[in-house]
Amino acid sequence: MCGIVGYIGRNDTKEVLLNGLEKLEYRGYDSAGIATLSNHGVDVFKVKGRIAALREKVAEDDTFSNMGIGHTRWATHGAPSVENAHPHQSASGRFTIVHNGVIENYQDIRKQYLADVNLASETDTEVIVQLVEVLYGELNDVSAAFRKAIELLKGSYAVGLIDAEDQETIYVAKNRSPLLVGLGDGFNVVASDSMATLKVTDRYLELEDKEIVIVNRDYVEVQKLNGKVVDRDPFTVELDAMDMEKGTYPHFMLKEIEEQPLVIRKIIQEYQDENDEIKLDENIRRAMGEVDRIYIIAAGTSYHAGLVGKQFLEKLANVPTEVHIASEFSYNMPLLSEKPLFVFISQSGETADSRSVLVKIKELGHPALTITNVPGSTLSREANYTLHLHAGPEIAVASTKAYTAQIAVLAILAVDTAKAKGLTFDFNPLQELGIVANAMESITDLQEEIEQMSKDYFAETRNAFYIGRGMDYFVAQEASLKLKEISYIQAEGFAGGELKHGTIALIEEGTPVIALATQENVNLSIRGNVQEVAARGANTCIISLKGLEQEGDAMVLPKVHELLTPLVSVVPMQLLAYYAALHRDCDVDKPRNLAKSVTVE
Ligand code: G6P
Repeated sequence: MCGIVGYIGRNDTKEVLLNGLEKLEYRGYDSAGIATLSNHGVDVFKVKGRIAALREKVAEDDTFSNMGIGHTRWATHGAPSVENAHPHQSASGRFTIVHNGVIENYQDIRKQYLADVNLASETDTEVIVQLVEVLYGELNDVSAAFRKAIELLKGSYAVGLIDAEDQETIYVAKNRSPLLVGLGDGFNVVASDSMATLKVTDRYLELEDKEIVIVNRDYVEVQKLNGKVVDRDPFTVELDAMDMEKGTYPHFMLKEIEEQPLVIRKIIQEYQDENDEIKLDENIRRAMGEVDRIYIIAAGTSYHAGLVGKQFLEKLANVPTEVHIASEFSYNMPLLSEKPLFVFISQSGETADSRSVLVKIKELGHPALTITNVPGSTLSREANYTLHLHAGPEIAVASTKAYTAQIAVLAILAVDTAKAKGLTFDFNPLQELGIVANAMESITDLQEEIEQMSKDYFAETRNAFYIGRGMDYFVAQEASLKLKEISYIQAEGFAGGELKHGTIALIEEGTPVIALATQENVNLSIRGNVQEVAARGANTCIISLKGLEQEGDAMVLPKVHELLTPLVSVVPMQLLAYYAALHRDCDVDKPRNLAKSVTVE
């Protein structure tokens, strides 16, 4: 979702901005733009569509500029168009802004302050830059006008503003939307995500909500809204810029699917001590031991990982666990237990729906643990505890390796909690995960077969169903999400027994129904469900686990512990979706309408 990059230094800004925006492409966007400032004033370049088109447009102009701001937009207020793309300018053209987030009171601001201003776009963002100009007219001081404008905003924002008459400053502010300031030697940068500017610096300053930053070539000053200057140490981002390249892979999604065995091995290494026991922060161990109920909060794929995690926490650690969709929980909170612990699962650590729940439960005084791939992210910083996924940057919008990493970390957390309580059982997650990593590898080796299956089942179809029981039902939901996200085939994941209670009416001659059969106790029942749909013309396919297979199964997965089957059964599902999208000429890594990091509620 929307991305911001800003640069002020001594070199040409255009390449830093364009490169930064390319690195933010993975977040999802539908238009893009940059504004550069030079001796002859501000130049704005904007396009609807991809950064590649923006690059071409920028290349037509050879003005040298050493400061500027850039933006990728994911439309919220107003359709994707050049007019609505950022940067936006004030009426006189003096002020130029980029913004992420949603300004809730933009209509009020318009009525109260901008009655005489003709707006050029339908965006809430333009209101901010016009407001700065109006306030500048009253206060005659840019810094004071910017501060006053920020004070008047309600909602979420990360903004970067430049003044055509000042080649020394980028004005920055943030509330509830992610934004970092990167520190360089003779230059400084601003970015929604350090990935955008990792090529130029690995030192960053975190910003807190309602802070304003004055970014100059040689210094950065963080201020509270009341003007108080804040002293803050930078942190170093430990990411290899190479991790963000796809190398010889045609798509990041395929690279990330294939990385899953490595990620699982990395997790084993990170969560294992020298005695081969689980290594976990003592504070998390204590917190887990004190709770009477866990509330998992997540969205999308992370929510699906939460459904599997609940099974671990209840079956292994005996802790009652509820899993909630973040966007629903924030206004429809259930009755809470006496000693709840909130577990936020989020690849990005920036999902606004989850953050809104975190803010609420913190107000209520409840503890929070975030399981995320980005340790410095908002959900991580604001929770009491963090567990890191160690999956490396996930760039493809459709989440794959983060999902399996989340499940692996949840299994480790559940077993650790169980052990701390003195519960004993014959399940060593670190050993079992090693077996999983090998099994994953042997599945990714079967790409030709899976590609063929994808052709057989999805080449022509408009819709598809995935069914499973128990653990397989949760994977069926994730499998269908993967397929619809990237191939746009209408797909649903159902509990095997539920299809006949209504949805079976949709089964026609040739409708694909993919069934998972990895759970011994329901192996025969799920096969019965497959018979029901096959009798009505469905094009059925069974993917089973070694030991449970029957003649005619399309694929038999290597044996892994029954609790960990989602980690292996999801891999062919991811690949099926990947090839379905590929054969339909869809943009696999950047599917339409979707954003990787959803920073608006
Ligand atoms: C977006 C992405 C999904 C992701 C969801 C939750 O919708 O497109 O792939 O699962 O957000 O994101 P999170 O970063 O919180 O896991």
